[in-house]
Amino acid sequence: MALDRSNPVPNDLSAFWMPFTANRQFKKAPRMLVSADRMHYRTADGREVLDGVAGLWCCNAGHNRPKIVEAIRQQAGELDYAPAFQMGHPKAFELANRLRDMAPSAMEHVFFTNSGSEAVETALKIAIAYQRAIGQGTRTRLIGRERGYHGVNFGGISVGGIVNNRKFFGTLLNGVDHLPHTHQPALNAFSRGEPEHGANLADELERIVALHGPETVAAVIVEPVAGSTGVLIPPKGYLKRLRELTRKHGILLIFDEVITGFGRLGAPFAADYFDVMPDMITCAKGLTNGVIPMGAVLATKEIHDAFMNGPEHVIELFHGYTYSGNPIASAAGLATLETYREEGLFERAAEIAPYWEDAVHSLKGLPHVIDIRNLGLIAGVELDPIAGEPTKRAFAAFLDAYENNVMIRTTGDIIAMSPPLIIEKSHIDTLIGTVADVLKRLH
Ligand SMILES: Cc1ncc(COP(=O)(O)O)c(C=O)c1O
Repeated sequence: MALDRSNPVPNDLSAFWMPFTANRQFKKAPRMLVSADRMHYRTADGREVLDGVAGLWCCNAGHNRPKIVEAIRQQAGELDYAPAFQMGHPKAFELANRLRDMAPSAMEHVFFTNSGSEAVETALKIAIAYQRAIGQGTRTRLIGRERGYHGVNFGGISVGGIVNNRKFFGTLLNGVDHLPHTHQPALNAFSRGEPEHGANLADELERIVALHGPETVAAVIVEPVAGSTGVLIPPKGYLKRLRELTRKHGILLIFDEVITGFGRLGAPFAADYFDVMPDMITCAKGLTNGVIPMGAVLATKEIHDAFMNGPEHVIELFHGYTYSGNPIASAAGLATLETYREEGLFERAAEIAPYWEDAVHSLKGLPHVIDIRNLGLIAGVELDPIAGEPTKRAFAAFLDAYENNVMIRTTGDIIAMSPPLIIEKSHIDTLIGTVADVLKRLH
């Protein structure tokens, strides 16, 4: 059906099968965003909505940033597309170099993808192929973690641990195990920053490795801070312990930094923040400020170089995407990294994080709040679920906040917030003030 130009809302919403959405609920009462600038969205009904989630954890520099918009415009007119296989174009190389400069020093090589999910698949495949390349071909097992989120492709949901993302889709990959998640509210509820208790949960890796033999395990993948499952901050010492154990057993460690990359914790990557060096990092989202789809795997020289042998005319890694390093995405990525640098946004996130922490913990004691967690510019507020109706209470909070001009996100019965790094104290006051009012109204 035709679009009525006087009203930006299409009058037929039926064809678009929306992702991770309650389609029938949405289409009865659409929440339509039509433009955005810096910290705000504008809705089809003319309201300004404060963005408490950076879109979907991706618009770290806020919306409609001139440098990024202009870079995309220019690139589209100069080189719209170039084949990614056996051909190159300058900006993909430039972006890879800038990423290497910004990433933890061990990360020397960059493989481009189009999303976080693809970055995860790529990293898992590289891990298995790397083990084979160094003569460790029996190392094929992959280890993820309960409640982990690594996107929606088969590898990602196999190592992931969110039940609803897995249970509808059959048997998934073979040879996958899961570490226990680190959520221990009885010990750690209302922790500020990293919780005290739970580093010992990394030792579960010893049990899994003992069960199968270390010579069967290729890689462990974890989110340094688990986001989509409802914000789980790693207990003090947990990631360091995981690094020690993976190293001890010749297992690669992959950090899935799709949400923690690009300043979310006030450092370029979580690997920097926690001072723990993985063997690969997956990233996406903030890489292009969410504006153009793009993801990447960052890998050590050791991993990359293991593939660089054999005759020079032969492809070294049989993997890649039509749009790997796409020119427009590369231009957006370069402009995004420049924006972060010029505006000192990672440092800004670190500076404002204590104010953020105080603000989110001020929600303690409000109705239904059973835990609050935070790190960098991330916060999770866990609500007591309605008996027999999980997710309903948090979803009601999401709808109420939206009606009151604030966009938050909910997963299960947890409110997640991850605002753009340009957020001002006054925005934090509005965001948290609105959430407080919503909680007081909730049933
Ligand atoms: C840790 C993590 N990995 C992977 C993904 C998947 O990224 P995408 O939706 O770009 O495929 C996400 C998305 O939220 C994520 O948070």
